[in-house]
Amino acid sequence: MSEKQTYYITTPIYYPSDNLHIGHAYCTVAADAEARFRRLEGYDVMFLTGTDEHGQKIERKAIAAGKSPKQYVDEIVAGIKDLWKVLNISNDRFIRTTDDYHVAAVQKIFKMLYDKGDIYKNEYEGWYCTPCESFWTEHQLVDGKCPDCGREVELTKEESYFFRLSKYQKALEELYEKNPNFISPQTRLNEMLTNFIRPGLDDLCVSRTSFKWGIPVTFDDKHIVYVWVDALSNYITALGWGSDDDSLYQKYWPAQVHLVGKEIVRFHTIIWPAMLMALDIPVPEMVFGHGWLLLEGGKMSKSKGNVVDPLVLCQRYGTDAIRYFLLREVPFGHDGIFSNEALINRINSDLANDLGNLVSRTLTMSEKYFGGKIAATGASDVLDDELKVLAGDVVSKYTGLMEQLLFSNAFSEVFRLVSRANKYIDETMPWKLAKDEASKDRLQQVLYNLCEVLRIVSILMQPAMPDTSAKILGYLGVDEAGCEWASVNTFGATAQFSTSKGEILFPRIDLEKELDQLEADKQKRAAEAAKAAPAAEAKDAAPAEITIDDFAKLDLRVAEIVACEIVPKSDKLLKLSLKVGKEDRTIAASIREWYKPEDLVGRRIIIVANLKPAVFRGVESHGMLLACENSEDDCKLVFVDDCTPGSQVR
Ligand code: ME8
Ligand code: MG
Repeated sequence: MSEKQTYYITTPIYYPSDNLHIGHAYCTVAADAEARFRRLEGYDVMFLTGTDEHGQKIERKAIAAGKSPKQYVDEIVAGIKDLWKVLNISNDRFIRTTDDYHVAAVQKIFKMLYDKGDIYKNEYEGWYCTPCESFWTEHQLVDGKCPDCGREVELTKEESYFFRLSKYQKALEELYEKNPNFISPQTRLNEMLTNFIRPGLDDLCVSRTSFKWGIPVTFDDKHIVYVWVDALSNYITALGWGSDDDSLYQKYWPAQVHLVGKEIVRFHTIIWPAMLMALDIPVPEMVFGHGWLLLEGGKMSKSKGNVVDPLVLCQRYGTDAIRYFLLREVPFGHDGIFSNEALINRINSDLANDLGNLVSRTLTMSEKYFGGKIAATGASDVLDDELKVLAGDVVSKYTGLMEQLLFSNAFSEVFRLVSRANKYIDETMPWKLAKDEASKDRLQQVLYNLCEVLRIVSILMQPAMPDTSAKILGYLGVDEAGCEWASVNTFGATAQFSTSKGEILFPRIDLEKELDQLEADKQKRAAEAAKAAPAAEAKDAAPAEITIDDFAKLDLRVAEIVACEIVPKSDKLLKLSLKVGKEDRTIAASIREWYKPEDLVGRRIIIVANLKPAVFRGVESHGMLLACENSEDDCKLVFVDDCTPGSQVR
């Protein structure tokens, strides 16, 4: 017996820094649909998802919440797992980068690369964007800000380990040339070539010393493994690579596809294959970069307060409707816009009208005219042939499209068949046939054909709407063989249907009323949030308790500003020359928006004197001054003009 072919598909592993929104669900639902489709086709599927739990951003969030990083991620990861349950995600494994086996394997990878000479120690200076966990060179910045998210970046300089990415430039170019689908869709390949490959690859900083929440480098424990080496490795460590039992790795690697959002295609198509080449491990077959799900006002973000909660949507409209909408609305690979109106329109037109109608008309007539017992009678008509040919065409197009991850087009094919079947009812007019005893056989054949269409449609819809598909097949009374992929191409495979009248699958939604209701709900929530805000804010902002010894680590001093100037090429920074007792020092501070240099000379302030020095826009800053953030756009220095420069503040 020949063994089943394997199919390994992954989603990105998500940062458990906040609850996930509908944009995150988008990628996981797509991966789930593909996994279900391949299982249906008969593949032995491995579908992996998980969480990416290390890094400075999570460490900072945990501190702000007064929790340990592990405690903090544990809670969010539990919520993520619940969300995948609600969305009916059929992942075979769930990896957490804090899992022991992953930690051990990443340490092994790092050491192997080091022993090979592909990781070496050097000094790093670059601009770091904390929210994106990304380093940028000066010329990559856009207006001095992170080119990905537009936020402030910090200049960092530290001893680091580097991965010899530049060494793999040529091998990567060959990889793309030999496997034109390695980076998919095509547009993403062009982006990678133009933006990263052709300008030339730099070696990559792969360790950090400035924070602790990460996997320690075994041979130099001041360092932790920088997040991308940690994160990307999950795709093999989840299969037991490098452990005592690597049977899953042997069976499923290399992956058929990594599904990822467009902003992380770079990491998956440059760093990841280079790492694998360095480890002598085969590269995956394909990285597919999908687009973003946007809102009318742009990208979803917690700070904009415009995140769409998938749990709320599933509760209100049903999981299958949400899954279908995500897969159908936007061609996979492109950006798309989420709106309540688009969602409701899609539910009404496709699910309530087209599919819902076909199901209820067919079941009602089967019940009414034949007590639910339907078999083929052979009383055919040319109209039937047309329907059968269309069904065959839809199945074959659908299969090709699903194999290319073109979900929207694939499901639009299915609805071509649904619409045709509704038209077939109008053309054959079963209610007329029912009036004439001589047409009984013809009537039964018509209903048989409709049941067959519904059977085929249900199988094809299973990757998007598993529950709905099972329900319809149940109402039709189809046996197991009739639910299988092997029978989807055979119109007429069913000997007999034994139908029962089902519930209404998708009730029509009154668009205007629903939108009013949603708006009212939104205002109510906003009002409640505003009422709760002061308390919540205080709680959020309160960092963890510290001891008096922690406080004693701060060397707070009174300093007098003796000179002050604007830092060139910066609209934020002022350079302050200070006298702290007998000592002179310089501090750069982002206060230009609030103070003119001449107004500051002669004033006395409080500084943190023992802060590790840092360089901002070429100014070496020794310490930090204390200021009060009254609001996002108002900041005041803490002046202590009566105090003596150099004296300690306690
Ligand atoms: O990037 N529309 O994690 P992440 C579509 N930990 N996709 C979206 C989206 C939106 N509005 N918002 C986010 C990471 N995503 C890393 C991955 S993999 C080894 C490490 C997608 O939680 C985003 O494009 O920030 C990405 O693919 C995924 O959610 C996880 O994002
Ligand atoms: Mg991200």
